[in-house]
Amino acid sequence: MKAVVWYGVGDIRLDEVPEPRIEQPTDAIVRLTASAICGTDLHMIRGTVSGMKPGRILGHEGVGIIEALGPDVRNLNVGDRVVIPSTIACGYCAYCRDGYYSQCDHANPQSESTAFFGGPEAFGGFNGLQAEKARIPFANVNLIKLPGEVIDEQAILLSDIFPTGYFGADIADIEPGHTVAIFGCGPVGQFAIASAKLMGAGRVLAVDNIPSRLEMAKQQGAEIINFDEEDPVETIKRLTGGIGVDRAIDAVGVDANCPHSGPAAKDARQLKAEFQREQKYVAPEQNPQNGNWEAGDAPSQVLRWAVEALAKAGTLSIIGVYPPTDNVFPIGKAMNKNLTIRMGNCHHRKYIPMLIDLVQSGAFDPLTVLTEVKPLTDAIEAYKAFDRRESGWMKVELEPSAVG
Ligand SMILES: NC(=O)c1ccc[n+]([C@@H]2O[C@H](COP(=O)([O-])OP(=O)(O)OC[C@H]3O[C@@H](n4cnc5c(N)ncnc54)[C@H](O)[C@@H]3O)[C@@H](O)[C@H]2O)c1
Ligand SMILES: [Zn+2]
Ligand SMILES: [Zn+2]
Repeated sequence: MKAVVWYGVGDIRLDEVPEPRIEQPTDAIVRLTASAICGTDLHMIRGTVSGMKPGRILGHEGVGIIEALGPDVRNLNVGDRVVIPSTIACGYCAYCRDGYYSQCDHANPQSESTAFFGGPEAFGGFNGLQAEKARIPFANVNLIKLPGEVIDEQAILLSDIFPTGYFGADIADIEPGHTVAIFGCGPVGQFAIASAKLMGAGRVLAVDNIPSRLEMAKQQGAEIINFDEEDPVETIKRLTGGIGVDRAIDAVGVDANCPHSGPAAKDARQLKAEFQREQKYVAPEQNPQNGNWEAGDAPSQVLRWAVEALAKAGTLSIIGVYPPTDNVFPIGKAMNKNLTIRMGNCHHRKYIPMLIDLVQSGAFDPLTVLTEVKPLTDAIEAYKAFDRRESGWMKVELEPSAVG
C-alpha cells in the first residue's frame, strides 16, 4: 500500500509499504478515507522534535472504515465508519479512567511521553495514518463511530486539531467575558479561537505574521495583530488598558519565529544568541532545502511574549508542542506575576464524542479551516506548500483512495 514515510530530517517520501495486520486481540485495521497534514508532522521533518526511526509512516489524523477487528474489540463492527483520536490510550489504566488519556500508562510503557501515531520512538513508535490502511491499538477506545451527517471533511478535523484547540481553551479555564490572547493562527490556533468563543470569551486577540491566517482569525471575530508590523506585547497591553489578557494560549510551539521587521525586531535581535543556544538543544540536526523544512528561529519567543502579555494572576495554556529536550521558560516573570501555567498533549478521546455531537447538531461547523483536499499521491508537494505556509493554505486533508 502507499504511505508517507519519514526517512530522515528533511527527507520524506511517498513509498510502497507492507499492509498492517492484526497483532493483538485489541487491534483493528482501518482503511483510511481521509488523513491530514499537521504542524506536529513538520516538527519531525524540520528536526525540532527528534528521535524518529527511518521507515516510520507519518501522520496522526485519520477517518476511515473498519476492515478487521481483533476478538477483544466488542463495541465496534467491521464496516463501521470511525474517526481516530491522534493520541493512543488503553482506556483502562487509572490515567485513562480519569480522562488523562494522553498520559496513558499502557499505550507507551517505555517512557513518560504521550503515545501517538506516526511519532518518534519515545512516543511509542507507532506507524502513522498518512497511508491507505493503519493498525489501531486498543481499538475499543481509539476508534469512535461517526454519524452519517458528519462528513469526512468535518470528521478529519475532529481527529486532532479541533479537540486540541478545545483542550487549549479548556485548560486555560476561560470564563464568559474573559479576554484571551491566542498566539499562532495556524489550524490549531483557529480552533483555539473558535473554542474560546464557544466558551464565552469576551474578546480574542490573535497573533501571527501570515496575512491569510490572520484574515481567517478576523473572520472568526478575533482582533488581529501582525508581529512583523507591531510589537504584540505592547499592542495587547494598549488594547487592554495596560492590564494585559486574562488568558493566553500558545498554539505555536517550538517552531516559533521571531520578528524580522517592525518594532519588535530589535528585542528579537538582542535575544539572538539565546535563541541560537536553544536551537542547539531542540534541533541539533537540521536539513533545510530550497525554502522548505526551516526550523523556527526562536523556540521560546511565544512563551516570552505570552508571559508578558498576561495580566497578573492570569493563566497560560500551552498546546504548541515542545520536545522533551527543551528547557527554556521565563520562570521568574511568570512566578512574580502569580501566573497559572497549564499545558500538554490533548486528551483527544475525552473531547471527541462531545465535539462530534456539536458538529452533528449543526451548532458549529469546523469546515472553513479545511482549505485543501489532495490525493495521498500528491502528499509530498502538499507537505511542502503547508510547510512554507503558502498564502491561503490552512488545513490539508489527504485522500488515501484518490489518485493524483
Ligand atoms: N498539544 C497537542 O496535543 C497538539 C496537537 C496538535 C498540534 N499541536 C501543536 O500545535 C502547534 C500548531 O499546529 P498547527 O498545525 O497549527 O501548525 P502550523 O505550523 O501550521 O501553525 C503555526 C503558526 O504559528 C505561527 N507563528 C510562528 N511564530 C509565531 C510567533 N512568534 N507568534 C505567533 N505566531 C507564530 C506561524 O506563522 C503559523 O501560522 C504545533 O506545535 C503542533 O505540534 C499540539
Ligand atoms: Zn495533528
Ligand atoms: Zn491508559
